[in-house]
Amino acid sequence: MASLLIRNIHTLVLADKTRRRTAVKGPEMAQLPCLQNAFLLCEDAIIKTFGPMEACPERADTIIDAEGGMVFPSWCDSHTHIVFAAAREEEFVDRIKGLSYEEIAARGGGILNSARRLQVCSEDDLFEGAWNRLQEVIGYGTGAIEIKSGYGLTLESELKMLRVIRRLKEKSPIPIKASFLGAHAIPLEYKQQREAYINLIIHQMLPQVAAEQLADYCDVFCDRGFFTVAETDQILKAALQYGLKPKIHANELDYSGGVQVGVANGAISVDHLEYTGPEEIAALLDGHTLPTLLPSCAFFLGIPFAPARQMIDAGLPVVLASDYNPGSSPSGKMSFVVALACIKMNMLPEEAIYAATLNGACALELADDYGSIAEGKKANLFITKPIPSIAYLPYAFGSDIVQHIILNGQVH
Ligand code: NIG
Ligand code: FE
Repeated sequence: MASLLIRNIHTLVLADKTRRRTAVKGPEMAQLPCLQNAFLLCEDAIIKTFGPMEACPERADTIIDAEGGMVFPSWCDSHTHIVFAAAREEEFVDRIKGLSYEEIAARGGGILNSARRLQVCSEDDLFEGAWNRLQEVIGYGTGAIEIKSGYGLTLESELKMLRVIRRLKEKSPIPIKASFLGAHAIPLEYKQQREAYINLIIHQMLPQVAAEQLADYCDVFCDRGFFTVAETDQILKAALQYGLKPKIHANELDYSGGVQVGVANGAISVDHLEYTGPEEIAALLDGHTLPTLLPSCAFFLGIPFAPARQMIDAGLPVVLASDYNPGSSPSGKMSFVVALACIKMNMLPEEAIYAATLNGACALELADDYGSIAEGKKANLFITKPIPSIAYLPYAFGSDIVQHIILNGQVH
């Protein structure tokens, strides 16, 4: 058995005595359990125990002195698109010059641009790019992640993306969940025959994805200009027949009905929610679906931020994720997502940290083992440089505060 001891921890963040496996919601989100001047002991890949420095064990195979740094549970990033062939900085410049995200998409750019690039990219090259992005975000403190397909938009290329995600799963030191997002955009050649593309998803893509067990979830971009509520409902119901639970893009561009159709189909989460009003909040309060907010997308596209404050004040369990993708959020830095949540959505630092760790783990259905510093959970965490307080993390939004990464009880 290999043991790892971390000593002299200024603050052990989300020190969870009860091993929480469910999302925290409403006013609870501001009550982040922390232990000052602490130690943490891991055995093999698991958190064994933690406590005050006075009770610190003397021996371990590896000892790290945190030297006044804090220990956080790793970020759980429940929404990314890190398998892609090329960046899209030309569209970024087009937007600076005045075009909107939707205008770029309508003329065949955006997701369709990424699909054209991906279709001609080899599986090995896609894997290499995604692997590098995975290493990048692990370096920022991410310790569990979801990755979507959706830049293939043909049977062959959607399968290629999902096989890349499977290879990532096999090699990755952190857990990965895969979402099938064939319904990301209607390909140009199907513009005049949308049902034919939906039939392709339902009758060819879904059966093959299920047969090869390539996905954990089914995603649909339910929004103005993309997939309608009726189409989303049809695809989600078909996916459920194959055991793929919904986890969808909703209400990024309009009050699209996406939240309601997600909740009605028992979605694990509905993600984006920039356009959320009282009806969406009421639907979420009635169901078990987690609202996942992606503030780096709103920041990058210059669209409204989701009303996180109203959601938490209404008693909801908010989740934060990066949406790392080449079009609307070319960053997977979760500490920046947390900072944006505080600066732009009025979340308290404690709420944002809960949303990016434990609640993110719930949106990945991994909260039994990830998302908090609890005895028996996986030892995925990061040690910061010395920082004066928890609030300093979102406050110093441009600083790199991660000092050491620990994955599966080992220094990474
Ligand atoms: O979550 N909104 C839909 N999908 C992605 C963006 C895709 C793209 O622009 O490439 C998102 O923002
Ligand atoms: Fe997304």
